[in-house]
Amino acid sequence: MIGVADLGLDARAQAEEAGFRTFESLDAILGERLDGVILSVPTNLHREYALRCIDAGCALLVEKPIALKVSEGIEIIEAARRKSVPLMVGYVERYNPAVIALRNFMQSGSLGKVHGISARRLGTMPARIKDANVLIDIGVHDIDMAAFVLGAKLELKAAQGGRAVLEDRIDFAFLALEGAGVPVHLETNWITPVKFREVLVTGEHGVCHVDYITQTARFAAAREFPVMPTFEGSVDYYKMGEFSNLPVDRQEPLRLELQAFANGIRSGLLPDPEISLVSLQIAEEATQIIEQRMRA
Ligand SMILES: NC(=O)c1ccc[n+]([C@@H]2O[C@H](COP(=O)([O-])OP(=O)(O)OC[C@H]3O[C@@H](n4cnc5c(N)ncnc54)[C@H](O)[C@@H]3O)[C@@H](O)[C@H]2O)c1
Repeated sequence: MIGVADLGLDARAQAEEAGFRTFESLDAILGERLDGVILSVPTNLHREYALRCIDAGCALLVEKPIALKVSEGIEIIEAARRKSVPLMVGYVERYNPAVIALRNFMQSGSLGKVHGISARRLGTMPARIKDANVLIDIGVHDIDMAAFVLGAKLELKAAQGGRAVLEDRIDFAFLALEGAGVPVHLETNWITPVKFREVLVTGEHGVCHVDYITQTARFAAAREFPVMPTFEGSVDYYKMGEFSNLPVDRQEPLRLELQAFANGIRSGLLPDPEISLVSLQIAEEATQIIEQRMRA
């Protein structure tokens, strides 16, 4: 590791404490011999900073979303292609061992035909985010997750949402999507006082539940619904339904993402950066629909 470039004194102090060299600007660090750069600055700076790294011929990992707008993302991808610069976009949930366990379970056929996916990413807004709305900032994670576990391209069917707390940006949204014929429903917001990061996938053979944070992936098998003659019996039945944990090798997803970048630079095999445009495109379309409805 060469070091950390950050305008912020606090960030540089933390990096120094952790034993890294620090630099006051991107240009200063680009003057070093670098194998790769991890770009993790506010999203509205991605385009400018990514193009500077690409100009310097430096392999680049851009944190999600690739940029604030699809058009800027395309510019970055095209510039990297022109300069033959390796480019990856960091979608950390693709490296979340619980999401990988879910995907493997679905792909093995254990869930049977998939009937639907629903995901929630709810909580309060980190005050430092001044540029992207909730769909562009965090909604893209679940759009990308659904595409990843289904192995299919998604299409936006409907979008609702609005501004509950923020004055300048959408801070809650509900999306209906479809991929490979499977309905995908997402709820994303910055207005719920309790944090949720979860996915339910319902299939022919049962249901899987994933908690992104605790990295648990569970499966409950489909079961008959017997007739319950009493109210108490129905309540007891409601409490039943056993989940069993799927094997998950818990690890820090960000570390795995960064390792994939380092290995990909060496092997020349990095994930296709174009995948990042799909979730951003959907977030952008949904934003337009919601904003249009708010103006009407
Ligand atoms: N993969 C994930 O799960 C995940 C999680 C959080 C953030 N992100 C993404 O990472 C990026 C950064 O997010 P964040 O929350 O860390 O942002 P942030 O606002 O905390 O900024 C990150 C750092 O950039 C520095 N910075 C700001 N302007 C700068 C400039 N002009 N030059 C150099 N440094 C500058 C800040 O001092 C800060 O240390 C965003 O694109 C965000 O979407 C991804």
